Amino acid sequence: MKSTTISPLLLMLTILMTTSIQSGVEDRGKYPYDSFEKPQVCQSCHTDIYMQWTQSMMSQAYTHHWDEIEYFDLAVAHAQKVPSLKEPVDGCNGCHAPLAFLAGDLTPPPPAAGSRANESVSCDLCHTISAIQTVDQTPFNFSYVPSPGRTKYGSKPGLVSPHHVTKNLDIYAQAEFCGSCHNEKNPFGIWVKSTQIEWLEGPYSKQNVPCHQCHMPKAWGQNAKMAQEDMVAQHLFHGAHDPGKVAGAIEIRMHPEEREVEIDGTAVIKVQLFNGKAGHKIPTGSVEDRILWLDVTAIDEEGKTYHLPVDQKGFEGEEYTIGSTALAYVDMGLPKGIDNFQGVPRDGIPVGDRIFRMPYFDDQGIMTIMQWNTAKLGVDYRIGPRETKIESYTWTLPDDVAVGKVIIKAQLNYQKLVKPVADFLHVPEDESEIMIINKADTWIEVYE
Ligand code: HEC
Ligand code: HEC
Ligand code: HEC
Ligand code: HEC
Ligand code: HEC
Repeated sequence: MKSTTISPLLLMLTILMTTSIQSGVEDRGKYPYDSFEKPQVCQSCHTDIYMQWTQSMMSQAYTHHWDEIEYFDLAVAHAQKVPSLKEPVDGCNGCHAPLAFLAGDLTPPPPAAGSRANESVSCDLCHTISAIQTVDQTPFNFSYVPSPGRTKYGSKPGLVSPHHVTKNLDIYAQAEFCGSCHNEKNPFGIWVKSTQIEWLEGPYSKQNVPCHQCHMPKAWGQNAKMAQEDMVAQHLFHGAHDPGKVAGAIEIRMHPEEREVEIDGTAVIKVQLFNGKAGHKIPTGSVEDRILWLDVTAIDEEGKTYHLPVDQKGFEGEEYTIGSTALAYVDMGLPKGIDNFQGVPRDGIPVGDRIFRMPYFDDQGIMTIMQWNTAKLGVDYRIGPRETKIESYTWTLPDDVAVGKVIIKAQLNYQKLVKPVADFLHVPEDESEIMIINKADTWIEVYE
């Protein structure tokens, strides 16, 4: 039968589909823990893949120190004070402890209890996903459809295994698969994570380079003990916690506008920063925590060192992209039970350095690292995939500068968690260590 009018039922369904995702939240409590096989079962045949996975953040998404601290000390504690947060805070587990979420074991026991929540993003969780749900073609908020059982899905057709049925599904080779956990919308309707969306808007999606090519690169070998050799997806999932992955992700070069500068003159230095390695913006993912900053210093012939603050460009919200001693993160006071909490320093880096970041704000307009409490996003001053940004430094030579060569050095630093917050919450050092992305230098000649 032909019809020119849309049926009311279809219309209603369409509205439902565009406003909410059926999977994710709806699967809560549907699958007891023993619906899923343990990673050690897979290990007996898929030895290399198992060892790679144990070293990646996937196997630690629930147990890693900073995850445990943020979840229990901030998120769960916040939901105890503000009951309406209970559902979104349970939702953390949809991505970080999916087995606990699907089993309805919420709040899951802490990592020290050794429950199956600790399996984090496990082999069997990923390999029994039978579909990815989307709204306006965007996957988000653990919108994977779990179908635990004997069938393990992957991207290769026709494989035979003594332990399980294997079936190939197109989604396993697509970025949307990753997007179901790497895009997140919070209770305020804010995109607090948008790695797959950034990728989609950038050049790599157009050239058909999904996440897998950089995070699960293929190499010749065996994917199981008894398998024939083939190109095999390495389960590296290396990201911000791998110094080698971060190193060189952005290339920098710099030059002075004029090589020779009179002793009472002004030097102008330009720095080019090119994101040549990442398929999304840098930083991406946990953008509320991460900063990237450029530190520029000049050293004269006598070894005197001068710190150069960046030139302001004058865009809206720029103050959040320049190192300052301002306080922020006041909303941590509520979950931490501190009355009249004044916050901690916003940046913890040299004042005047350029920061590449996107600030998250709470409903009071104060910067927050609590992504679930984010009511608004600030200026997006991150470096997009294959984007180049230019920073300039106008430096009026100081009175005491020596005649001769002055070397100007730039160092691009990266931090997974801003240091003042890490210190305040007693997060182990490695989460706030300075990772060097790249360095560059140039020189000027000072004459009398
Ligand atoms: C008794 C050995 C054995 C065990 C245990 C085992 N597998 Fe496999 N698996 C294989 C073999 C063999 C293949 C086929 C390899 C080939 O021919 O390339 C395979 C293939 C796969 C594939 C590829 C599917 C595709 O179509 O791309 C996935 C995914 C997979 N296994 C997941 C798992 C998971 C998850 C577990 C643990 C829950 C597991 N396997 C346990 C032997 C095993
Ligand atoms: C975050 C989700 C995720 C996790 C966790 C995960 N895998 Fe995979 N796995 C994938 C995807 C996606 C592919 C397909 C990659 C491709 O084709 O580019 C894959 C491919 C495979 C393959 C086929 C590899 C090949 O190219 O021949 C095997 C076997 C496999 N996984 C086993 C495992 C085992 C065992 C574990 C746990 C130790 C595991 N996977 C953990 C997502 C995951
Ligand atoms: C079931 C949810 C889920 C899926 C599906 C998933 N991830 Fe993840 N992924 C996570 C979580 C949660 C973390 C954070 C771990 C932690 O707590 O640091 C993570 C971490 C990572 C990291 C490490 C980041 C770092 O800080 O070092 C990379 C890289 C990554 N994922 C890539 C991928 C890719 C590529 C895919 C698709 C093939 C994928 N993920 C699919 C949930 C998922
Ligand atoms: C062209 C290569 C490339 C592609 C494509 C790519 N990435 Fe990355 N990714 C990188 C590099 C390089 C880094 C390290 C620099 C950084 O932290 O941003 C990285 C970092 C990450 C991180 C850690 C970010 C952080 O600060 O914790 C995550 C998570 C991640 N990628 C997920 C993804 C997902 C999901 C996709 C697909 C939607 C994807 N990546 C596509 C190269 C790539
Ligand atoms: C839609 C899936 C999803 C939800 C829901 C989610 N996360 Fe995450 N989370 C991720 C992914 C993916 C990453 C890795 C991103 C990256 O590396 O930058 C991550 C990273 C983190 C990190 C940083 C880990 C590190 O070592 O740097 C913390 C802490 C964290 N999440 C806590 C939470 C808390 C608390 C909640 C609930 C309020 C939550 N997450 C909800 C997917 C999710």
